[in-house]
This record gives sequence, C-alpha cells and structure tokens, in this order.
Amino acid sequence: MLIRGKRDIPSSEITPESAWFNRRTFVAGLAAAGLVGTARATPQYQITGTGQEELEGVSRGPFNASEPANSYEDITTYNNFYEFGVGKDDPHRNSGSFKPQPWTVRVEGEAEVTGEFDIEGLLSGVGLEERVYRMRCVEAWSMVIPWVGVPLGEVLKRFRPRSRAKYVAFQTVLRPDEMPGQRRRVLRWPYVEGLTIEEATHPLTLLAVGVYGVTLPNQNGAPLRLVVPWKYGFKGIKSIVSIRLQERQPPTSWNISAPQEYGFYANVNPEVDHPRWSQATERRIGSGFSGLFARRIPTQMFNGYADQVAHLYSGLDLRRNY
Ligand code: MTE
Repeated sequence: MLIRGKRDIPSSEITPESAWFNRRTFVAGLAAAGLVGTARATPQYQITGTGQEELEGVSRGPFNASEPANSYEDITTYNNFYEFGVGKDDPHRNSGSFKPQPWTVRVEGEAEVTGEFDIEGLLSGVGLEERVYRMRCVEAWSMVIPWVGVPLGEVLKRFRPRSRAKYVAFQTVLRPDEMPGQRRRVLRWPYVEGLTIEEATHPLTLLAVGVYGVTLPNQNGAPLRLVVPWKYGFKGIKSIVSIRLQERQPPTSWNISAPQEYGFYANVNPEVDHPRWSQATERRIGSGFSGLFARRIPTQMFNGYADQVAHLYSGLDLRRNY
C-alpha cells in the first residue's frame, strides 16, 4: 500500500498539520509492514478529497454484495458511536478532536504470542482487501459499505491461539477527554464485544482500517474496527485497543445494558423480532430510500450470508440464542 501523491484538497486545509503528518506515518507504516498487494490494485470504490489518506495495494476480496454501495456521505454522517453521542449525526460532529494516532492494540490471553502492537505490527504480512458488505443495524436500517481491511482470522493466526481460546473479546478505547459521550453513563464504558473463535476466524470477518479506499474517519471507528456482516451492526466494535483470546464467553455492551433485547450472538434473523419492533424488513439508508418515500426491503437470514455462515449455528436454537 502506498500513499497517493495527488489529492484534490490538500489535507492541510482540512486538518491540523500534526494530524496530517500522523496519518501519513500510519499509511507509510502499513506499506513498510508489507501490506501491499503484489499487483498494484485499486479498490472498486475510492474517494478523493476527504482529508483521509488514500489506501493503495488493496485487492478485491471475496463475498462482495452486488448492490451499489451507499455514498461516502451516508456512511460517514449517519452513524452509531455512542462515545460521541447518541444521535446519528453526533459521531461526525463530535469526533473531530479524537486522535487515532499513535495507536496500539493489546493482544492478550490464550495465545502463544501476546503483547502490545502498533497497527503495522498487528497487521504485518496480511494483505489489505476491499469487501463490499451489506450491513444491517439492529434498528432495522441498512447500508452497503465498501470496507478495506484484513480477515481477522489471518491476523489471529499469527498470534497462535491455544486450544483453550474459545472466544475473542474486544474492547474500545476509553478516552472521556476526547469522547464526550463517555462522560455520560448511557452505556458502561469502555464498549466491549465478543465473538466465538469460529466466528472470529470465519473468512467473512474483517478488521477494517478503511472505507471507500481511504483510512477510516473517526466516526466510523478509526483507526481499527470490527466488521461482521451477518450480525447486527452493534457487534462491529470500533476503535479497538484490546483483543483477548479466552475460554469463557465475554460480556458485551448491549447485552449488559439490555439483556432481554440484545444477546451474545446477534445474528441477523428476520424471524426473531426485537421485543419492541419487527426485524422482518429494513430501510436502506440513502437517496430514494429515506424520508417520506422510504422503501422497506425484506431482511434476509444472516443478512444474506447464510450460505457462508449457517453451518456455524447448526444445532443451536436461534430463538433462544438471539
Ligand atoms: N462501537 C463502539 N465502540 N461504540 C458504539 O456505540 N455502535 C455499534 C457499532 N460499533 C458502536 C460501536 C452500532 S449499534 C452500529 S450499527 C455500528 O457500530 C455502526 O457502524 P457505522 O457507524 O460505521 O455504520
């Protein structure tokens, strides 16, 4: 991956010089870590002039949705990131002073290799891929998002999980100074999430560092977040600082907050309603789909990824294990 030389808007006009320098270091660091495809590939979706670094050497990954992607604007202005407020436009309005660089992630627990790694060290040797995924929020809206990231399973393999590692627990950074939402107790902070080891190592599961061919904006979980497209969006924990391999099922933020409404699995399932609303249909965010003319589309089992993931849950009662 390389930094693109040409930019439509010099980032110095958008962000302070120090932030610009840090992002350059981030992308250059990824390049140095060998995260460059052998052929100079470019993503299908790449935007310029956003102030984010453009990613190169991104190969086209498998399982891409055939629907057109939502606009960069939809994806970066309609968000859930309670650390910056509970409104959909709060994350993009309130995340300007969040500093995603420098950044380190602790890899802990039942693995032969553990420690604290910068992003380059964490992702070293794993190629960046573009994955255009359907994303379904538990609030019954959806988007199609072209992520850039690496399969989490490829990353975890390098830390050599032990056989006792049955689950993976994730934690978001705790920085009330930079994250105004963390000064209010709307959730118990820091935000935590978890997956079974089979889910975490499934080839669909991504650790994303970018969207639309550029580094993740703060509101989308910079510099590193989880993407699990067959689950409700709240499983996609943002701004990760800890990845722990463990034997016991970890607690998860929404399950702690409202256990009768949000379970550990959170697989998209049109047949199991949320206690307060139906999950049978969804509203696709974006032009032609919002406001008065909002068209609802049927929600698919496992968000349309049943062929890839249904086998993970054979024998499990999905009504009880929601
Ligand atoms: N991660 C953290 N740390 N805090 C949050 O509030 N919200 C979740 C998830 N990850 C959330 C989070 C929810 S409910 C959704 S739908 C997705 O992020 C939204 O991701 P997006 O804003 O990039 O579309």
